[in-house]
Amino acid sequence: MTSDRILKDWDDTNSLLWGQMPIQIAHNLDKSELFSRDALAALIEAYPREHYNLIQTASRESRRVWREGEVGNLSGHQIIDAIGAGTLWLNLRKVTDVDPRYRAKVNELFDEIRSHVPNFGHPEHTAGILISSPRAQVYYHSDLPGQGLIQLVGTKRVYVYPSKPPFVAPHHLEDIALFGVEVDMPYADWYDRHATIYDLAPGQMLHWPLNAPHRVENLDAVNISMTISYTDEEIRRLQMVNFTNGLLRHKFGYQARSRSTTGPSFFAKRLLQRTLRNSSWIRRERDSRQSVDFKLDGARLGAIIDIPKAAIAS
Ligand SMILES: [Fe+2]
Repeated sequence: MTSDRILKDWDDTNSLLWGQMPIQIAHNLDKSELFSRDALAALIEAYPREHYNLIQTASRESRRVWREGEVGNLSGHQIIDAIGAGTLWLNLRKVTDVDPRYRAKVNELFDEIRSHVPNFGHPEHTAGILISSPRAQVYYHSDLPGQGLIQLVGTKRVYVYPSKPPFVAPHHLEDIALFGVEVDMPYADWYDRHATIYDLAPGQMLHWPLNAPHRVENLDAVNISMTISYTDEEIRRLQMVNFTNGLLRHKFGYQARSRSTTGPSFFAKRLLQRTLRNSSWIRRERDSRQSVDFKLDGARLGAIIDIPKAAIAS
């Protein structure tokens, strides 16, 4: 095994535990020039508007805040400084589509995972870069694709919960598939007694079982992380089932019992999903849950300026 591999000191038990339990893996991506501050500042400046989300959250002691905004006309370095001073969270989604250098690196990582995990296959995969404030947090949620979190700068505390009820139930996944919003899941403090908790430092990566709920608290300076996300045929079929079961429940009051990803009930759902996924009802419901209402303040780094609704519409 050569030393230029991304995954270092692979523990063979990880090959057995992959997807079954949360596991922590060592990597060397934090040493890559692609994740230096200068490289990321340049990346942010060129980033297409439709591929990033800027979120304001509350610090840990405060009541919940979840607003979406835009970076305004700040430079890349100023944006990172603003994140350093605020409680913000910038998600450069699909960096693997936006910049081929990151695509090449993430492909390399997936090749290595495949070499260690016999049944991993060749899922479609993507990655995003998260830049977040020292005291920012990401609330309790599940993701529909397979997921891993790679820590590059700063330290964060990651709570990973069991991927089963009551922590995550089918109707939670259905709502995510239908409305595209992950952070509306119910959460109670006592869930933490059943979480696996990691203080994730640069050079460490986490992988957890499909749909396992998680939440994140940043512990110190600006945090830079990369999320990897993958979808194979089974995950894709589960997403269709979640979408259609959610639609049947919300729109027609019908509680579907089957979560099968094969057979006639699945193929009927796939047809319904293809017919309705872009319907006006779905678009309206999603729009009502996602709106941009602030931009970063260039004069006071870390502060935000409200954008009036009329300006957003224009
Ligand atoms: Fe997540």
